[in-house]
Amino acid sequence: VEQERIRNFSIIAHIDHGKSTLADRLLEYTHAVTEREMVEQILDSMDLEREKGITIKARSVRMDYQAKDGITYALNLIDTPGHVDFSYEVSRSLAACEGALLVVDAAQGIEAQTMANVHLAIDAGLAIVAVVNKIDLPNAQPEKVAHDLQQVIGLLEDEIIFASAKSGLGVDEILEAIVTKIPPPSGDRTAPLRALIFDSHYDPYKGVIAYVKVVDGILREEQPLRLMATGKETDALEIGVFRPTMTRVSELGAGEVGYIATGLKVVTDCQVGDTVTDAERPAPEPLPGYRPVKPMVFAGLYPVDGEDYPALRDALARLKLNDASLVYEPESSDALGFGFRCGFLGLLHMEIIQERLEREYKLDLLATAPSVEYEVLKRDGTVVHVDNPSDMPSPGEIEEIREPWASLTIMSPSRYIGTIMELVTSRRGQFVDMTYLDEDRVQLSFEMPLAELIVDFYDQLKSRTQGYASLDYQLADMRASDLVKLDILVNGQPVDALSLITHRSSAYERGKALVESLRKLIPRQLFDVPVQASIGSRVIARETIRAMRKNVLAKCYGGDVTRKRKLLEKQKEGKARMKMVGSVEIPQEAFLAVLSLG
Ligand code: GTP
Repeated sequence: VEQERIRNFSIIAHIDHGKSTLADRLLEYTHAVTEREMVEQILDSMDLEREKGITIKARSVRMDYQAKDGITYALNLIDTPGHVDFSYEVSRSLAACEGALLVVDAAQGIEAQTMANVHLAIDAGLAIVAVVNKIDLPNAQPEKVAHDLQQVIGLLEDEIIFASAKSGLGVDEILEAIVTKIPPPSGDRTAPLRALIFDSHYDPYKGVIAYVKVVDGILREEQPLRLMATGKETDALEIGVFRPTMTRVSELGAGEVGYIATGLKVVTDCQVGDTVTDAERPAPEPLPGYRPVKPMVFAGLYPVDGEDYPALRDALARLKLNDASLVYEPESSDALGFGFRCGFLGLLHMEIIQERLEREYKLDLLATAPSVEYEVLKRDGTVVHVDNPSDMPSPGEIEEIREPWASLTIMSPSRYIGTIMELVTSRRGQFVDMTYLDEDRVQLSFEMPLAELIVDFYDQLKSRTQGYASLDYQLADMRASDLVKLDILVNGQPVDALSLITHRSSAYERGKALVESLRKLIPRQLFDVPVQASIGSRVIARETIRAMRKNVLAKCYGGDVTRKRKLLEKQKEGKARMKMVGSVEIPQEAFLAVLSLG
């Protein structure tokens, strides 16, 4: 395809503002799919995505559109993930585009995540085509939303299209705007090959499929390739475009978007943001912006039934095939047995993985409390990184503990300012700035420790604002804090799986809550069992489980033998699901309950 006739664009939208519906409409208007195929939404194809109502992975599709000028254009829609956890992937998808459709719900208005992505797009030099969607809704306020867009993004009035992705209103105008407002790609066809990887997936027959935008040069089938960041070499086994199914082509020239079947075995070799070049005529410089994946949230995953350990190991390996941002390594816990320490991009990513393991692989899992990665300066001058509380050096060895801080942007109706301030400051957050978008909508900026953000902050924010506030965050820097490791001891033995790192000011409260709930959950033993929370050797909270001497058989009055046997069986079964900590048996449920307490 001639470069002049190519348009590469993404859709930026907040969850539920109508991205998928609009994408479907574009496919329908350009006859990229038949109506029968339309029954299913095409772009969101993972089950879990559909269910959670979010787009997890970026995808792409090519459409042919005959514009009013009589020329047929190749439009490449590159879909972007819609959640804070995946902002790096969004940035790489945007880097493959020359323009973006900004879709805003006419009843909901602009949200924080949308703003963050619009800024990414503007910074990347993309042309913005703004669409105020859902104008058919009775409570739509298109004029007001258009006004906000002009205010916040500096768009002109005539740059905003009013549309209804549902009824199809405005879709023609959107297609024309894509052709007229978004510039064609400007690559050099004669230069050495440089193609940007913006996504990938694993195909059991063809190996890793890389989704690429050819920036310079020409990509041909069977071309020897090199991935510049990972250094991997391979051949282009097959190249093609998504229409939306994979359709083979003989070459992809500068500006075109498509796929390469690489034959690689793991997506880790094919990182998002990496540059594909010709192994025999390599480009001198890779494309800018590559960043290796960096997990931010860590947790231990353990099978509830120890026998499922090999199944968990296999399942993680399978998921990893398709998810370069999932990292894991084996770990063992005295209390929970064998499991894996896993690193995730964020809490949502963690939930998705956990849910897929449980649902698709039928595993019963126990997750330890999520943790961030701390930087510990030891007295001997060395620095260690700790993402597992049980690896924290002893207090005597520590000079300073630093933790990651995040910059936070929250958008909300102004009536919730008070409650948001309260929530943020209760989580050690600091107010930075506030801007009114209009009379009743504000943008608030804060700084906050990442560790406070990952425990239930988003849900709290949503519930305190009746779902109206939206949130975006970015990692800012590492700061020294007064952090301590809180241990939980049962009968004098620390329970490693329950250790956590917390700010000194909340250690007492958290310790007290943990020992109280454990007291209720651990059954009485033949002796008194102290349950304590401690920092180093200093106990800060204590409860005692009083001894109980009762023979379970005593209530059977000797008579009924089968009943007696049943009771014994039941007791044995119960034991199987107990974990021994020192000489105390702790039921599995106690761990589950305590860990879900956070
Ligand atoms: P994610 O995939 O989660 O990012 O959401 P999305 O932005 O793709 O939203 P989606 O297209 O799934 O639309 C969300 C809901 O809004 C669906 O129930 C759509 O039917 C509805 N919707 C989308 N566009 C319109 C519209 O123009 N008018 C009305 N009334 N409803 C719409």
